[in-house]
Amino acid sequence: MLNRIEHIAIAVSDLDAAIAGYSRSWGMTVEHREVVEDQKVEEAMLKIGESYIQLLAPTDPSSTVAKFIERRGEGLHHIAYEVEDLVAALASLEKEGVTLIDPDPRAGSRGTRVAFIHPKSNNGVLAELVEKKP
Ligand code: CO
Repeated sequence: MLNRIEHIAIAVSDLDAAIAGYSRSWGMTVEHREVVEDQKVEEAMLKIGESYIQLLAPTDPSSTVAKFIERRGEGLHHIAYEVEDLVAALASLEKEGVTLIDPDPRAGSRGTRVAFIHPKSNNGVLAELVEKKP
C-alpha cells in the first residue's frame, strides 16, 4: 500500500530561520515553498534522496501547527507516506479500525491529494497519506 516516505514534517516557529539553519548546517536546499491556506501553514520542502524534510510553520495562531508548537515546542510533527490510490488506502485503514482525521482526501501542496491519520492509531505519531497528481 505504501510506496515510500514522501516527507517528514518538522514544526518550526520561524520558517526563514529554520531554512537558514538547515542550509548552513546540513547543506540542504529548498526545492519548493508554498503557503497552504487550508491548513494555515507555510511549508518548505528540502530534498533528500527520494524524500523530503518538510519545514512547517504556522501562518496564523489558529493553525493546528501553532497549537502544536504552543503545547509541545518545535519538533517532529508528522510522517507522510506516498500511496498510489488514496481512496483505497483510506478504505483499507478504516476497515482495520484505524482512526482517520480525514475520511476523504483533501487538497495538499504541490497539487497532491492528502489525508491525515490520527496519532492515537500510530503510536503517537501523526501520519499523512500523499497521492501525487496523475
Ligand atoms: Co505533510
